[in-house]
Amino acid sequence: MSAPPFLNWEEGEVEELFSRDARVMAPSAIRALSKVTADPAIISLAGGHPSADSFPAEEIKRILAELSRDLDVGLLQYGATAGHEGLRREILGILLERGIKAGGEELILCSGSQRGLDLLGRVLLDPGDIALMEVPSYPGAIACFRNLRVEMMGVPQDGEGLVVERLEEVLGSLRSQGRRVKLLYTIPNFQNPSGATLSPQRRAAVAELARREGFLILEDDPYGELYFEDGEREKLRPIASISGSPVVYISTFSKILAPGLRTAFVWGPPTVISKVELAAQASDLCSSMLDQRIIYEYCRTGGLRRALPRIRTLYREHGEALLGALEESMPKGVEWNRPRGGFFLWMRLPAGLEAEEMLQAAVARKVAYVPGRPFCVDGSGANALRLSFSKEPPERLRQGAHALAETVREQMR
Ligand SMILES: Cc1ncc(COP(=O)(O)O)c(C=O)c1O
Repeated sequence: MSAPPFLNWEEGEVEELFSRDARVMAPSAIRALSKVTADPAIISLAGGHPSADSFPAEEIKRILAELSRDLDVGLLQYGATAGHEGLRREILGILLERGIKAGGEELILCSGSQRGLDLLGRVLLDPGDIALMEVPSYPGAIACFRNLRVEMMGVPQDGEGLVVERLEEVLGSLRSQGRRVKLLYTIPNFQNPSGATLSPQRRAAVAELARREGFLILEDDPYGELYFEDGEREKLRPIASISGSPVVYISTFSKILAPGLRTAFVWGPPTVISKVELAAQASDLCSSMLDQRIIYEYCRTGGLRRALPRIRTLYREHGEALLGALEESMPKGVEWNRPRGGFFLWMRLPAGLEAEEMLQAAVARKVAYVPGRPFCVDGSGANALRLSFSKEPPERLRQGAHALAETVREQMR
């Protein structure tokens, strides 16, 4: 019997098989780097993986033992698309602490905020719609919108996050062409990749602009709990907490508990949430009830509340180790910011150096980072790179910074 015809198709012909959406899909630069960083000898300042030391292994073991002792087989069943009832209640409490007074019909759980972004993209965006993105921004969101064939336009950031005057300029220029912006995707807290935090004044200004100009704010907040100093907390209140602002807010347990438990939550107007629920029903029916039950128990018994101060200290120590070592070792002409929380900082190389070209030399010195271009929808970022201080322990962060400084020095020669 001969093979089905498509198995014999030449590469060009196979393209015909794919949908228009599939044809624009492209590999992720960060995922591609994971082959390099899988080598334990490489110090990875690349991926945004949480530190394994942040995982509450003992508590999770205890919860798993209790759950298995008296297994509720209902957890092995399909669950509600909106999520585990108990965990939903816990999340309403978490939202309230962040200043968001939410009702149950305004909330849906999903397996990771990456899926949340995809579902939201599908219910909010058509091919050709305009989404404004911070420059630089999270490549996972860029990939998601690109796959939906959305037109992305960049808004620059400075040390206080996205620059509102520049946002107004972009909006004005599009308005004069008779074009409408559908949404602004923003990560106001310890942004990935810039590490910048949007100031409270700018949050209010962005919310006001969105109201006036009629676009939606898609606020992504995986890192807001990970501030280094308690004094920061008040400044991190989500835009979603500003009354009357047109926001859909998404957050996750990935960076404050464990990404392997694949649980995130989306808050927004009930009309949007019920559409997301319909999209989810066609996508995965429901997320894992077992994962959500574990998180529920962890939250209900105060595990998250107890762990957060420890996790904040852990990442502050990581951040200080990397920043201190960069200051000691980087040659003049290299610039970076000093994030006050989160996982990342953004570095600019001296003129003439390109982060993509330099990567091989860095890997030869056993350190990896992510070059800046995949983060920038406007094609910029060639001389920039993202450094992550989340995964590696402080000693390796210091070694990594020194190796990177050596690499830069060598390239400058
Ligand atoms: C800004 C941002 N959004 C979303 C995600 C995806 O997180 P998850 O799908 O694990 O919830 C990440 C992960 O790095 C992120 O940095």
